[in-house]
Amino acid sequence: MSNGFFITLEGIEGCGKTTQARLMSEYIQSKGRRVVLTREPGGTVIGKRIREILLDPESKGIDSRAELLLYFADRAQHVAEVIEPALADGAVVICDRFTDATLAYQGFGRGVGLELIADLNEAATQGLAPDLTLLLDIPVAEGLRRARKRNGDNNQASEGRFEEEPDEFHKKVRQGYLTLASRETDRFKIIDASGTAEEVQALIQKSLGSRFRGNDNF
Ligand code: TMP
Repeated sequence: MSNGFFITLEGIEGCGKTTQARLMSEYIQSKGRRVVLTREPGGTVIGKRIREILLDPESKGIDSRAELLLYFADRAQHVAEVIEPALADGAVVICDRFTDATLAYQGFGRGVGLELIADLNEAATQGLAPDLTLLLDIPVAEGLRRARKRNGDNNQASEGRFEEEPDEFHKKVRQGYLTLASRETDRFKIIDASGTAEEVQALIQKSLGSRFRGNDNF
């Protein structure tokens, strides 16, 4: 049996996942573990092309089922090409978004049935689920302020399709994530993401520490 470990990071726009994933990766590597840091959509060459379609503001008219299937196409490729092989090889895989994002955005946000998502997910992931999910929770107004500033600073307008959604959509997504977390309290850890990057990372390391105390995975 491999001792790979699968961690996902989730949260609304601007919650700081990407920075925290990088800092967490450095921290876990400093403990002597090999880490594969990846993300969805876009963790493979094929996935990067799918990501462009999904996040381009020009894809605004996309049908919600077409959108859903593209996320699952990205995930199927990603699981087969990157995540499963890394776990089988004993790595710690840190993935910036995974199935919970589909449940929160397409399910709770867009109103696609959660059962349909669960069925498609089973086909795409072959039942692979995270060992641990860190939900970086932040109020919608603050998250969107950070996300819009980041896109402006980095000239990332080409990825702004979800930031253009009304606040109401993002509130449903946030609430959806909190509902998912309340249903699986063992897998989820809710992190208050309203502080500085250093403060949030300290909370994450604390929660990793307590989760893995006495466990030689780390
Ligand atoms: P990112 O900006 O955090 O990389 O995520 C890309 C966008 O894709 C983000 O707005 C959330 C959205 N998304 C979904 O709607 N469903 C999904 O299944 C995933 C993985 C992402």
